[in-house]
Parts: sequence; structure tokens; C-alpha cells
Amino acid sequence: MNTVEVRNLSKVFAQGEYKVKAVDNVTFDIAKGELVSVTGQSGSGKTTLLNLIGGIETATEGSVYIDGTDICRADEKELARLRRQKIGYVFQDFNLIPILTVEENIIMPLLLDSKKADREELDRITRFLGLENRLTHLPSQLSGGQKQRVAIARALINHPSIILADEPTGNLDRAMADEIMRLLLDLNREGITVLLVTHEERYADMCPRKLVISDGHIS
Ligand SMILES: Nc1ncnc2c1ncn2[C@@H]1O[C@H](COP(=O)(O)OP(=O)(O)OP(=O)(O)O)[C@@H](O)[C@H]1O
Ligand SMILES: [Mg+2]
Repeated sequence: MNTVEVRNLSKVFAQGEYKVKAVDNVTFDIAKGELVSVTGQSGSGKTTLLNLIGGIETATEGSVYIDGTDICRADEKELARLRRQKIGYVFQDFNLIPILTVEENIIMPLLLDSKKADREELDRITRFLGLENRLTHLPSQLSGGQKQRVAIARALINHPSIILADEPTGNLDRAMADEIMRLLLDLNREGITVLLVTHEERYADMCPRKLVISDGHIS
């Protein structure tokens, strides 16, 4: 079974009389274990596509199957559960909660599901990401690259079916951006499925499969 199946997916934004087809009748699959990049000009629909797959945005038409479940047909509660358990999201601006420590930020998705953090698992993930000595820090005490590593740890803690990353290197300097890209490649080698939106050709070129989107169409 594919991890993601996108079928005839469209998203229309209406602003008064003016309509934008941000995603226009898109169909593709992502198999388990793939690392796929999405590139395209600003405004081409990359974020909208990712948000549809992540269940953050609702589709105007079409379907998104995650591990065989059509998230476009799920009710509000089911969708929230699917999002928490199947999707690991990494954003350009990290989206960490400033008043929580690194450890608290990482285990947040578990708390939302009333689950306890498995100490060994938490140690394994934080060691993998080089955060083991930062667990009691606040986000404001971290570098950009460290913040993004915390966001990746948070995305991994629920063992999601896929990591959706929307320009995760966009707010980082070159060295830190390269480091985050290397981490995503390492994670993928461990078997994690990743969909990566990026403006950087050189990062897209590191991905075994590249999707290019223009005016909402995948080519
Ligand atoms: N909430 C919204 N309401 C109205 N229009 C929107 C909304 N979100 C996105 N759009 C429009 O949909 C189109 C695609 O936007 P999207 O954010 O997906 O592009 P993008 O490829 O991620 O661009 P960037 O590279 O700048 O992040 C754009 O024309 C944008 O203006
Ligand atoms: Mg975007």
C-alpha cells in the first residue's frame, strides 16, 4: 500500500469574485520510504498541496489517502487523530511553543493523545538529532538549526507515516540548512517517508524523486 495517494485533488481559494486554483486536478502516489521533493515558483501551490496532504486545508475536490484512509472524508475528530498520529509536520518558522522546554515541545503530540513519552524512545530521537544536552532549554535559547531539529524530533515522536516539510531550511543560514537537509536524508535512509517542499535546487537534486508544480499542476 502507498503511504500517500492523491487523486484528482483541487483547491480553489475564492476572494470575492476572484478565484485562485491553487492546486489543480493533481494525482500522484508516494510509496513508503520515498523521499520526494516539491519545487516550483512562489505561489505555484506547494504549501497548499502540502496542507491538503496534511489535512490542514480541506480539498475543494478529490481525495488524499494516507495509509489507505481518505482524509478528505474523515470527520473533524477522526481527522485530528489522523493528523496527530500519521503526519509529522515541519515548518519554515519552526512553530515551537516558546514557554515550553525542548523536551516538552517534543513530547507535545503524545500529550495531546494522552500518551506517555517512552524515555528510551525520546533518548534515541534526541541523540539522533544531537539534542540530548538541550532538553531543558527554552526555544529562545537555541540556534535556528537547533530549533528546527526540535521541530523534527516533535514530528518524529508519534512515528508518523510521513514527514511533511515546508521549506524547513528557509529561515536558516547555509551551514545550518545543509545540516537539516543531511538530517532529512539520514532519516529517509532509516526508512522514514518524506515530502519536502524547497526553493533550493541543490536540495531537490538530493532527493531520489522530484515533483515540480506550476500553477497548481504537477509536471
Ligand atoms: N488562504 C488563502 N486564501 C486565498 N488565496 C490563497 C490562500 N492560500 C494560498 N492562496 C493562493 O494560492 C496560490 C498558491 O499559494 P501557495 O501558498 O500554495 O504557494 P507556494 O508555492 O507555497 O508559494 P511560496 O513559494 O511563496 O511559499 C497563490 O496564488 C496564493 O495567493
Ligand atoms: Mg509556500
